[in-house]
Amino acid sequence: MAYAHRHLLAIEGLEPPEIAHLLDLAESYVLLNRSGKTARDMLRGKTLINLFFEDSTRTRTSFELAGKRLGADVINMSVGSSSVNKGETLLDTAATLNAMQCDLLVVRHDQSGAPNLLAQKVDAAVINAGDGMHEHPTQALLDALTIRRRKGRLAGLTVAICGDIAHSRVARSNIHLLTAMGSRVRVVGPPTLIPAAVEELGVAMFHDMRAGLADADIVMMLRLQKERMEGGLIPSSREFFRFYGLDADKLAAARPDALVMHPGPMNRGVEIESRVADDPARSVIREQVEMGVAVRMAVLDTLAHGPRRND
Ligand code: NCD
Repeated sequence: MAYAHRHLLAIEGLEPPEIAHLLDLAESYVLLNRSGKTARDMLRGKTLINLFFEDSTRTRTSFELAGKRLGADVINMSVGSSSVNKGETLLDTAATLNAMQCDLLVVRHDQSGAPNLLAQKVDAAVINAGDGMHEHPTQALLDALTIRRRKGRLAGLTVAICGDIAHSRVARSNIHLLTAMGSRVRVVGPPTLIPAAVEELGVAMFHDMRAGLADADIVMMLRLQKERMEGGLIPSSREFFRFYGLDADKLAAARPDALVMHPGPMNRGVEIESRVADDPARSVIREQVEMGVAVRMAVLDTLAHGPRRND
């Protein structure tokens, strides 16, 4: 099977050929998007609902654009305008969505597991667009596509994921994807922001930034997720930047051709300085956004047409 599932809820549990299939298909959409051609009829007649219980700009817009490029009818439902605010439960919402005959449901929720629950109750194919501190599978796919296009491969690369690992669904999805595809993954950050069990996922842990970045091919910075912290985990943003913020000096520990990544939104001057984030020779942050649309087109295309065989 090219991709043997009805939904995309997590990277954990996907087989490497399934990940490669999604990346290969996304690659074809990058080329199509760049050539200005569109595949307008791929999702004609299909309804895509973006159901966002948490704020998002880039992920929601990216799914919206991906759906529209493929010809789907796209509807955005954000929590502010939905009846969830009026006390409707997640399962009632699911019943409503079923009645609307939605084909593809993109869900972001602050509770880990919410998309899985919905997937059991709706007829639509469900895509997790970020659930609590659990997973954000399309972010990991777009990160992998960005790396693969620049470095030609994922296997054998050293990837340092830095900062607030504990609260990051982006980190979890990336750890699962990159280790499955043969990269060497390190996590770098203060002990308060790295769960001890992370080493069981097959990654190496560093608390010193320069040691963690030494000879890295990829430096992936994460946002400090203050909204998920219950106080006291970092002394101050200034202290954090001094020890763990990416500046030119710390980046010098990585390979000279190391790429700098960040999923956005960035806290400039907290986890990354602008000089590095905006350096076109090192930073691929804008390219990540472009790859996001292509990856989401590939995921929508794959799920809209059900599990498929490779032949
Ligand atoms: C990430 C998220 O929402 O998990 N952002 C994103 O999808 N672009 C990372 C973050 O919020 O820090």
